[in-house]
Amino acid sequence: MPSAPEKIQTRAAAGAATAPGNVSPTEIQREIERRRTFAIISHPDAGKTTLTEKLLLYGGAIHLAGSVKARRAARHATSDWMQMEQERGISVTSSVLQFEYEGMRINLLDTPGHQDFSEDTYRTLLAADSAVMLLDNRKGVEEQTRKLFEVCRLRRTPIFTFVNKCDRVGVSPLQLLDDVEADLGIACAAVTWPITDGTSFLGVYDRLGGALHLFEKGGDHGATRLPDRVTGLDDSKLEELLGGPARDRLVEEVELLDAAGAAFDEGAFLRGEVSPTFFGSALTNFGVEPFLRRFLRFAPPPPPREAEGGEVPPDHPEFSGFVFKIQANMDPKHRDRIAFVRVCSGRFDAGATAVNMRSGREVRLARPQTFFAQEREAVETAWPGDVVGVHDRGNLRIGDSLSAKGGIEFPGMPAFSPESFSRVIVPDPLRRKHLDKGLLELSEEGAIQVFFSDGDAGPAPVVGAVGALQFDVLLHRLEHEYGVVARLEPLPYRDARWVTGPEAEIRRVASGYDSRLVRDRAGRPLLLFRNEWVRSSTEERERGKVAFHRMAPEAA
Ligand code: G4P
Repeated sequence: MPSAPEKIQTRAAAGAATAPGNVSPTEIQREIERRRTFAIISHPDAGKTTLTEKLLLYGGAIHLAGSVKARRAARHATSDWMQMEQERGISVTSSVLQFEYEGMRINLLDTPGHQDFSEDTYRTLLAADSAVMLLDNRKGVEEQTRKLFEVCRLRRTPIFTFVNKCDRVGVSPLQLLDDVEADLGIACAAVTWPITDGTSFLGVYDRLGGALHLFEKGGDHGATRLPDRVTGLDDSKLEELLGGPARDRLVEEVELLDAAGAAFDEGAFLRGEVSPTFFGSALTNFGVEPFLRRFLRFAPPPPPREAEGGEVPPDHPEFSGFVFKIQANMDPKHRDRIAFVRVCSGRFDAGATAVNMRSGREVRLARPQTFFAQEREAVETAWPGDVVGVHDRGNLRIGDSLSAKGGIEFPGMPAFSPESFSRVIVPDPLRRKHLDKGLLELSEEGAIQVFFSDGDAGPAPVVGAVGALQFDVLLHRLEHEYGVVARLEPLPYRDARWVTGPEAEIRRVASGYDSRLVRDRAGRPLLLFRNEWVRSSTEERERGKVAFHRMAPEAA
């Protein structure tokens, strides 16, 4: 167990003269203040790619990797790994997209959806300081949004909501917000409100600023046009601009909101209790800029991060960060890996060394040039809130804490309850040792989770994943890195929770129909359920007797 750090001081308290690498207090403050690091959480098809592209329109990407453009670049890559990505036409990895807007530095962390939804998607959320929940105006909250939201809620991440596709009329917005509140238990405070005459979309009304943004079919959708200012909903200009029926409808809905809707409260937002909500259309670029402006105003800059022995403020003079994702085998010949590090304090300098708290060893933060080179320039310097990809030769693991002098340890990366399970079958018994080694290393790396049937270390371990793609990656890597040709036998479970409580109670709950007990490497019991419904009804029934955990509880 590494020793707790000495009292963690702010940059100012530590005194400028002691700063390594001549980081001036004003410089670090300025860089922190202008950084916003966030992720978009959504269900496939809600418009995340479209919204991302529109946000870039306002900034111009600086670093762009693993996303739309990099996928195109990957066509030229030669590794088997990339080959697999190409064959499936997807990106296995999640990464960061960095752009500037009006002096602000924005880090948008890519959270893969579709088939490449994996545990990485959840881990990425731990590196974000806020999130934007993107909803389709006809569908509201969908399955993947719900799962991602849950992870944000566990961390009390401030969440914005953007209701997309408003260029076509969707579910009544009042109904939609009611549904979100009932489903997720978060209050939505509408900042903008969609205006319609019942059949077509006319624009949005900004409740905080009293501005009308009018939608013009075929126009530039407000990209250059200034909003019309109105003094309030009784302004006679409203009828002139919108027509009677749309005006009446807007007045009625906003009155209802004023009376019954959640009010925007910055404190409640920062605690993750209220979500400022915006309406717009990513496709037509309508409502995106008003959203971006408010986002920059309300989204928090990098906050202090919880660590062993006390919080680490971002302006702490020493560089610190944690690894939240490892992308293996960019080049299988060199077994090169890229470790994605979220910078939490101080300044990251390419080529500097840092101490890895887990191993106590010094690691060189090698320039991430190869990784970013195809797209943009290499990273030389990074500040709190930024994400850098550093080359790693197998020294780093997901959850590792790095700091310039050592002594700063962030909480380990939690494991998230998997949603698919399979037994690993290896026809050749002589390869069993290789399989065990492979599973151990790949689970330590966070590529997959390994479980054992209760009471036996078993001839066929159970592997668990959040997304099915992780299984394909597992088979591929077992074969190419460990020489093990394995096959998977799917198990009929689709949901799981770690469970704590008296052992007899745990066994009793596990004996129920449609569930099964396994244990992870640390011996912690995990209950597998046939589906989400069985899981939630079991949780409901057993409340107070045993506790269920979405993230692996700290090992006792
Ligand atoms: P995703 O990354 O969340 O999966 O969604 P993506 O942006 O790929 O968008 C999914 C579909 O929704 C696309 O249509 C896209 O054009 C459409 N879309 C996105 N934003 C809006 C919007 O504001 N209004 C409307 N009406 N549609 C929107 P597609 O037909 O699947 O693909 P494409 O042929 O348009 O590319």
